Amino acid sequence: LPAKLYGNRRNSGGLEFGYRADLDQLVAGLARATATVNAQPLNPGLAASGKAQPVLAPADPGREVGSVVFATAADVDKAMTAARAGFARWSRTPVQDRAATLERAADLLEKHRDALMALLALEAGKTLDDGLAEIREAVDFCRYYAAQSRKRFATKERMPGPTGEDNHYGWRGRGVFAAISPWNFPLAIFLGQVTAALAAGNAVIAKPAEQTPLIAYRAVQLLHEAGVPKDVLIYLPGAGDVGAALTAHPAIAGVAFTGSTDTARAINRTLAEKDGPIVPLIAETGGLNAMIVDATALPEQVADDVVMSAFRSAGQRCSALRLLFLQNDVADRMMDMIEGAASALKIGDPMDPSTDIGPVIDHAQKEMLETHITSMRKSHAVRATGKAPETGTFFAPHIVELDRADRLDREIFGPVLHVVRYRAKDLDQVVESIAASGYGLTLGIHSRVDATVSRIIDRLDVGNVYVNRNMIGAVVGTQPFGGSGLSGTGFKAGGPHYLTRFAQEQVVSINT
Ligand code: SER
Repeated sequence: LPAKLYGNRRNSGGLEFGYRADLDQLVAGLARATATVNAQPLNPGLAASGKAQPVLAPADPGREVGSVVFATAADVDKAMTAARAGFARWSRTPVQDRAATLERAADLLEKHRDALMALLALEAGKTLDDGLAEIREAVDFCRYYAAQSRKRFATKERMPGPTGEDNHYGWRGRGVFAAISPWNFPLAIFLGQVTAALAAGNAVIAKPAEQTPLIAYRAVQLLHEAGVPKDVLIYLPGAGDVGAALTAHPAIAGVAFTGSTDTARAINRTLAEKDGPIVPLIAETGGLNAMIVDATALPEQVADDVVMSAFRSAGQRCSALRLLFLQNDVADRMMDMIEGAASALKIGDPMDPSTDIGPVIDHAQKEMLETHITSMRKSHAVRATGKAPETGTFFAPHIVELDRADRLDREIFGPVLHVVRYRAKDLDQVVESIAASGYGLTLGIHSRVDATVSRIIDRLDVGNVYVNRNMIGAVVGTQPFGGSGLSGTGFKAGGPHYLTRFAQEQVVSINT
């Protein structure tokens, strides 16, 4: 088994999921996944009304991974009617039973790990080690939210009160949740939202990203097999019109969304204006994530951590490093080492275990990256650190040297690292420029001076700060994940308070 498939425990999730891929099973999994997957509607009586369309592999656009029948806005009402009936039963299902169902789903994900890895590679262009880490994260979400629901929701809390009165404080599901998820973690984030909503006692209508409906389809099939009733979890693949109709539906009780800040704002406006109850939006959006490296940092470690944070997963993580601040005393040496480490990355077929970087998700994303690089070349030094295959949507890692941080004013979602040099005496300005972006998702600091580290952390509202390590791959239950400001609403996914956003409180006062 290639050493790299053992991965790095620290970056690959894993509360309980054993981390050893068996090569034979893996190869068998790859073979199974090459069969066509057809995402027919999973819910009886709810036939998505769109036409079947092919889902193509980003690494090889001539290859059809499967096909999907997209729902249309007209299907949303039918889904809602079914899900409301499902909610009525699921909300009365004991917390212990709901949690046990999610744990069975975790077992099934593990059982089908290899086929899921292959599907992640084919449909989403994930390398095998990224795919493995993603499955571990999905398993962790199932088990962690099951455990959290038992801890928080299984018993009612007796509140203090006067003699002759009993006061019981408890939690219940809110209703039918919309879960709208992105293509960059088509299994882990998809299931993170879904399992949180289910664990809190809600029914869910889940709309996966347009680019990755097949993985979501398999995930929903496995949850149904684990015992989640079909009208409690409804799969609704579709384009933006389906998401818009879902969030505008008067009966929706809450929305979990991961994606762009602009779309989160649009959902917020829709929720504010729609009929029906006032409902929560749980949004995890983008970041303009920075790392600050001072002259006391260890160069070899910085090179590894920068390359991993900026280029792994083809830079398609919301946590990924976008803007690197290098103290100028060490910048030349660091840049040489970073470029050296980046140029050793192998770009290519995600099914090949020796590949480090697979394709970006689609042509639109590749064109966006090309346009950005062309525009940056006009006034900045830009270097590609590798060569991307011609076919497929591959894009080589690039490094762009900026003269000022504010030259980068939006998240560039892909393997592009922007670098700014700073003088030691200007550290406060660096911190101010990071704060000025308005985002607050991840931050990296490489410094061996505790006072510098504290000074930076104290001044920035950032959800996840990583010191002297890479800044990706938050582990469920260990590094609860999510940001503030333009980066999201909180609470953090994989954290102790996430489920409470999906539930509502109730107090029953009894005159005894
Ligand atoms: N949760 C992922 C990470 O930590 C990002 O989406 O890398």
